[in-house]
Amino acid sequence: MRTQVGIVGAGPAGLLLSQLLDLHGIETVIVERQSQAHVEGRIRAGLLEPGTVALLEEAGVADRLHREGLVHGGIEIAIEGDRHRIDFVDLTDGNTVTVYGQTEITKDLFAARHRAGADIVSEAGDVAVADIAGPEPKIQYRKDGETHTIECDVIAGCDGFHGICRASIGPEQLTVREQLYPFAWLGILAETPPVSPELIYAHHSRGFALFTMRSTSVSRLYLQCTPDENLDDWPDDRIWEELQLRLGGDAAARLVTGPALDKSVIAMRSFVAEPMQHGRLFLAGDAAHIVPPTGAKGLNLAASDVRLLSRALIDHFEHGRSEGLEGYSAACLRRVWNAQRFSWWMTALLHRFPEAGPFDLRRQRAELDYLVSSRSAMTALAENYVGLPFG
Ligand code: FAD
Ligand code: PHB
Repeated sequence: MRTQVGIVGAGPAGLLLSQLLDLHGIETVIVERQSQAHVEGRIRAGLLEPGTVALLEEAGVADRLHREGLVHGGIEIAIEGDRHRIDFVDLTDGNTVTVYGQTEITKDLFAARHRAGADIVSEAGDVAVADIAGPEPKIQYRKDGETHTIECDVIAGCDGFHGICRASIGPEQLTVREQLYPFAWLGILAETPPVSPELIYAHHSRGFALFTMRSTSVSRLYLQCTPDENLDDWPDDRIWEELQLRLGGDAAARLVTGPALDKSVIAMRSFVAEPMQHGRLFLAGDAAHIVPPTGAKGLNLAASDVRLLSRALIDHFEHGRSEGLEGYSAACLRRVWNAQRFSWWMTALLHRFPEAGPFDLRRQRAELDYLVSSRSAMTALAENYVGLPFG
């Protein structure tokens, strides 16, 4: 088999890249290790920057997003139960963010790809890439007991943090910078209406909590927990009790309890591998970088990588110009490092660090008080949260 762009991974990055390239008549084949149902069922991100919404529109997959997505003009920060609103519309010249689950984005993208007759190999085994430094890179995989090879002009490594693409670049070619956090998030999907129309990020001496949502009847809750937290220790009653304590105030009073549909522990990590390219292999999304979810940047960064990579590939195949591909990694990394900085800052601002001493706790509280009382500080949060303009 031969294709122009071989894509490893059918997460949001891989599917969106394939969709955008197809609009310009560029051939792709996607090779995914899991089944489509598995990918569509993975509960992950939920908050989209306007730039991500615009890219999904450009890809022709935003109709349901516009019908069902919830548009938010701000967020709330709760400090020991005391809530303060940060008004994005006012602070960032009318910008809003959209709540629409990653599960729904992947469903819309798979549907659009199938309508266009896309080549997607699901449940591929032993996926590997070869000859990435030369002119004829290849993707190999096993399916139905046979080994297959796809010869490509270019390979896009969209296979997430645990994928094989980044690992196929020698350690001497890549610089990895990483930070782990001494806490994790317990993520819960619950069949209950949101307590408030907008997201609540809660700083509390018992630990951080985030109240977000998927619709007007389904809420998504996160509670700071330990990295080795045992889910069996979190029956539904304990989750509601703890959330009530950390939210405090009238939000706690409005909390409607209901059955938890899903519970998981989400590790917190900051990670960047650079450069995001080796030879004819280009990394995009979680394959190259991970942010802690506090700033809601993971999926949005995957989309902005894909925006740049699709434009560079279109320039390469339509016009024979290579500047976009040559500058791809540097252009992505400017945005990636800013999102790393912001995600680290939001995480440090809002969480309870187990090793924090009395000075750290008081300083953190002063920073929170400053944030919610200074228009400049709120503007800095708002413009980063809605996403900085593309350079
Ligand atoms: P992925 O979504 O990871 O997709 C990669 C795809 O590659 C997957 O389908 C995978 O099966 C496939 N793959 C892996 N290995 C191979 C292989 N060897 N061969 C073929 N295919 C392979 N971000 C937020 O902004 N907010 C959140 O609340 C949030 N929560 C998260 C919770 C969890 C548990 C995780 C893991 C991530 C979360 N993120 C969140 C991050 C966000 O979901 C990711 O940034 C986003 O999924 C990145 O998309 P991607 O396409 O780059 O990678
Ligand atoms: C979510 O809706 O899942 C979500 C929203 C904002 C975050 C993290 C997760 O910062």
